[in-house]
Amino acid sequence: RIDTRSDLMIFGGLGDLARRKLFPALYHLERTGLLAADSRVLVLARRAHSVDDVREQLASDIRRRVPDSDWDDGVLSRLLARVDYLCLDINRLDDYQPLVRWRGDCENALIVYMATPPSLYGVIARQLRDAGCCTRKTRVVVEKPIGHDLETSRTINQQLGEVFNEDQLFRIDHYLGKETVQNLIALRFANNLFASQWNQNHISHVEITVAESVGIEGRWGYFDQAGQVRDMIQNHLLQLLCLIAMDPPADLSADSIRDEKVKVLKALRPITPDLIESHLVRGQYTAGSSQGKVVPGYLEEEGADRNSTTETFVALKVEIENWRWAGVPFYIRTGKRLPEKLSQIIIHFKPAPHYIFDPDQRHLASNKLVIRLQPDEGMTLQILTKDQGLDKGMRLRRGPLELTFSEAFQTDRIPEAYERLLWEVMKGNQYLFVRRDEVEYAWRWVDGVVANWQAHDDLPKRYAAGTWGPVAAIALITRDGRSWYEDA
Ligand code: BG6
Repeated sequence: RIDTRSDLMIFGGLGDLARRKLFPALYHLERTGLLAADSRVLVLARRAHSVDDVREQLASDIRRRVPDSDWDDGVLSRLLARVDYLCLDINRLDDYQPLVRWRGDCENALIVYMATPPSLYGVIARQLRDAGCCTRKTRVVVEKPIGHDLETSRTINQQLGEVFNEDQLFRIDHYLGKETVQNLIALRFANNLFASQWNQNHISHVEITVAESVGIEGRWGYFDQAGQVRDMIQNHLLQLLCLIAMDPPADLSADSIRDEKVKVLKALRPITPDLIESHLVRGQYTAGSSQGKVVPGYLEEEGADRNSTTETFVALKVEIENWRWAGVPFYIRTGKRLPEKLSQIIIHFKPAPHYIFDPDQRHLASNKLVIRLQPDEGMTLQILTKDQGLDKGMRLRRGPLELTFSEAFQTDRIPEAYERLLWEVMKGNQYLFVRRDEVEYAWRWVDGVVANWQAHDDLPKRYAAGTWGPVAAIALITRDGRSWYEDA
């Protein structure tokens, strides 16, 4: 049995991430009995509060985010009884002494969660070391964005690396904590049926869509510095692409999986200046209607700079230059203020080599595997059958082989990404966390994309909120004689 007893120190413990994601996740871990009896949580923040005030604040945050069906006052009390609070100025070494006292000679694993801006990771790491607060066994959790480009990500990784070894660092990409994202590994490597088909001999192209209906949600300042390419492509979309494209790992160990992902990142074809027009579309939403409500455009959001050229949508044609994927484009797109929240991957298989059915139906004759990551998690394999009835002859009809997880497995609730990620940190397992070289190879490719669109003076194209992005995003795929899945 793995020892999961942990002392969790959360820097930025009263910040948005902690209140929205980490504490609700801890609530569910407590509820499912996964928090070891001796585990403790220390909230660290800048302002002075009493422990009681902090517990009260967390109680109302958690209450707001946990549905009634999962609510239990007893669970909340048990969780809050583990919580302590210390006020600390990150820059003052003296403020770290109480942390050392809080730890005492406790044998629990120490997990330091830096839920702060990445610019503070370096100083927190150094102060912890200088205060004598961490050991070789300390685990450190950090959030994206790890930098703004390759150079800044190297600086952050370097600062962390001066204090901690790579095997102590848990870099979060919360998409890797989603149940259905992990399922990609099971789908690909437990089903020999697919293994033999998963290459350029049998797959014509792949689509990855991560659509959000929300806009900027009061984060204009952060988002405008980043944009959709840095905020979503550099991490979540490239991680999905890696899981779809990687070679089979030798086992499920963290490094076996991450080694394979790195090989994919290294093989991404750079989007060179001559490819910008045909391989990249950036968009920015204007006013429109989202889920029945009139919503403002990006430049009219609160705090907006009206001249911003930051993209809120991006579509890319990505090519992977290796044996498995030569000639198989990956069309990926992600955006804010799209018609719905939807993340899905579609594997388009090639048609049969020799077609013998009605010529009018030729366009139907290929299989598709639709993997729905969220919502309505599951997958559908589109297969071809004969249409029913005497009068139909050998007319074809496409039908679904359908697996909806909630129905098939009677799951009452799929755990949130942060529950799983915190649990894996407690177990000390890094396979769902991003290694330094992954972050850096992803940035290297993204930096090339950014530099080339800047040199090309490419401005984002407008799209009305509530639509599927600029028309050019449709052209990006129709130019190759294909269409995005829901347009099919
Ligand atoms: C975050 C991005 O990493 O992922 C946000 O910073 C985005 O801009 C979010 O909204 C999407 O995550 P999810 O889990 O809601 O698909």
